[in-house]
Amino acid sequence: MYELHGVRKVFGEAGVALDDVALTVGRGEHVAFIGPSGSGKTTLFRVLNLTLRPTAGVLRLDGQDVAGFSDAELRRARMRIGSVYQQHNLVGRLRVVHNVLAGNLGRWSTAHALASLLRPQGVDGAARALEQVGIPEKLWARTDELSGGQQQRVAIARVLVQDPDVILADEPVSSVDPSLALTLVTLLRDLSRDSTKTLLMNLHSVELALGHFPRIVGIRDGRVHFDLAPAKVTPELLAQLYAGSRDDEAQLERFQDGATFFGGACRPLPGVRR
Ligand SMILES: Nc1ncnc2c1ncn2[C@@H]1O[C@H](COP(=O)(O)OP(=O)(O)O)[C@@H](O)[C@H]1O
Ligand SMILES: [Mg+2]
Repeated sequence: MYELHGVRKVFGEAGVALDDVALTVGRGEHVAFIGPSGSGKTTLFRVLNLTLRPTAGVLRLDGQDVAGFSDAELRRARMRIGSVYQQHNLVGRLRVVHNVLAGNLGRWSTAHALASLLRPQGVDGAARALEQVGIPEKLWARTDELSGGQQQRVAIARVLVQDPDVILADEPVSSVDPSLALTLVTLLRDLSRDSTKTLLMNLHSVELALGHFPRIVGIRDGRVHFDLAPAKVTPELLAQLYAGSRDDEAQLERFQDGATFFGGACRPLPGVRR
């Protein structure tokens, strides 16, 4: 699906956000990205969803070098990539149905999109997507009357309507409580698996990453620090990954408190007793 070689992103004076990133992601793969804040995860996702052009290096989508894409090809490619964010980017004043149907915007002409605001087009599709995320009864509700968790479900329904080949979820559960976070991560994973979509997720919680993804990429200082199966991600590697960062203490505290760290669906790390 993706192939990156020597990808670098520099933000003017602000410095190097990505440095020599090499990564290959196969079709249908599920990969979690972890690492301290400011390490470059969001920048990497913006490169992957083709909204940010790398300063140097090569990005291939299905074997094609993205640098050579025309505007039309770029638009078509972006339609194949769905994004879910921490702030779900919904329009609160609109009814849920419209926010879900916004998943079609890449495909629709402006006229079609405007017509849909007056008379929603493709309501069945929106209803089906809401059913899949477990809130079919909210189709006609005003979006800002929903709870945070329900709004995040709407954002997931929107990406289902878009029906992309890849879902990039950038800290999709960082603003909800832990039990809801678990539910939403599992939901995204299962929906991606059922529809054989590639799923890449940035996660603040190491616990969720290790417990629910078969491949973990640790990002530090704009580089791939490790790229391993969860069972191979040792406490030492995690300590290195977060060393000296603001997240360091919080992550390691959870880590030392085995009961918390290994709670829920997370499997224990090798060599660490529950
Ligand atoms: N638009 C931007 N302009 C300047 N600097 C940026 C911009 N976006 C990100 N950065 C910088 O790039 C680095 C990586 O940021 P980011 O990708 O957001 O990290 P993460 O998502 O891991 O927290 C940080 O130092 C951040 O300040
Ligand atoms: Mg980020």
